[in-house]
This record gives sequence, structure tokens and C-alpha cells, in this order.
Amino acid sequence: MSRKLCRVAVLISGSGTNLQALIDAAGERAGFSICAVISNRPGAYGLVRATEAGIPASVVDHRDYPDRESFDSALMAEIDRHTPDLVVLAGFMRILTSEFVRHYSGRLLNIHPSLLPKYQGLHTHQRALEAGDSEHGATVHFVTEELDGGPAIVQALVPVQAEDSAELLAKRVQVQEHKIYPLAVTWFARGRLRMVEDRSELDGELLPRSGKKITGAC
Ligand code: GRF
Repeated sequence: MSRKLCRVAVLISGSGTNLQALIDAAGERAGFSICAVISNRPGAYGLVRATEAGIPASVVDHRDYPDRESFDSALMAEIDRHTPDLVVLAGFMRILTSEFVRHYSGRLLNIHPSLLPKYQGLHTHQRALEAGDSEHGATVHFVTEELDGGPAIVQALVPVQAEDSAELLAKRVQVQEHKIYPLAVTWFARGRLRMVEDRSELDGELLPRSGKKITGAC
């Protein structure tokens, strides 16, 4: 008899390439299924990806709500209708209220395109180039009330090359994002990963504060 799959809700705002990586990884082997895809933007291409994969897709448009609190409470209602075990932010471009973050505490993940704690916020690839960094990457982390600041789970390290532009670097980082996000979700789904206060724990061991490092193929 097959084990019960972890139900994952994915929140998006855009193209959804990370969503696609999660769709491709989902199944018995990974231990999770995607129960819902929700976008705050009606035109997000990720909605097409979800529909093509037979996943319920819906929109909660932030422009329909007068403030952040009312948007977040409508979003929570839409998410909870699908009874997820885990909520995954995959290019979801909204700042969340404390109430939202607390509601999903320990079961809310995000991916950020930098080696956190470096470069919280936007334009991460350009900032890494301007700083002359030799290494850049992406981080999957639990979401807490601190923006891009919750406990790191896994980081993909990507060497910066002399001829890199922000676009070239972003492309190579995204290839790694598509590996580490399904990896972290699989760990969670299999009961191997949890948030313990301000740290991530994998297989009963606290991870380094910057998460587990992955270089190249994982
Ligand atoms: C990714 O670069 C991710 O790190 C950031 O937003 C982007 C989303 O891209 N949080 P996509 O929609 O998954 O293609």
C-alpha cells in the first residue's frame, strides 16, 4: 500500500520555472503531491503549467483587496481550503503579514536567489557582480517574520565567471534552484526536515546556519 503523500500548496507570481521543477519531481518517490497552485497575478504563466499538470489553479489578486491584511486573510482561506501540509513560495512577489507567516510556521518555505544572509531583497545577481563575489547561488529557507531571514535549509553554490552578466548568472543560478527546491521539499515530505526554533534540522541534526551546501549536481 502506498504511503500518504505530503500535500504541497505552491504560491507563484510569475513564470513558475521552480513550480515546474516541483511538478516534475512530485510523486510517490519524492513523497509529495502538489494540491494547489495559487497566484496573486492573473496572467502568471505558472497557472498554465499547473492546469497542464492537472493541478487546481486559482488566483487571489492582491489588487482586489484594500490592504495587506485583507489580502493575506483571503489568501490563507484559499490555501487552507486545499488542506496542505506544506506551503511553498516559488517566485511569490508579495511581502507577507506576520499573521500569515505565524499561521504556517514551520511549514512555509521560500527560495531566494542569493547565498543568504547576503543580498536579501531584489537585484541579487547584479549586487553579487558589483561586489566582485567569486561565488553566488540560491538558498531554500523556512519563512519567518524576518524578510528573507528564516532558517536556511540548503544552498546551491554557483561560481561567478569573468564574462558574467546579471542575466547569464541568473540563468545558471536558476538551474541549481530547480535542483535544490525539490530536494528540500522531498526532505520535508519524508519527515526528515523540520524547523527547530531559529534553525533547520535534517535527519535529527541541526544544519549549519547557512544551510547544507550543494555544489554542482545534487
Ligand atoms: C526565482 O529566481 C526565485 O529564486 C525567486 O523568484 C524567481 C522565481 O522564478 N524567489 P520562477 O517563477 O520560479 O521561474
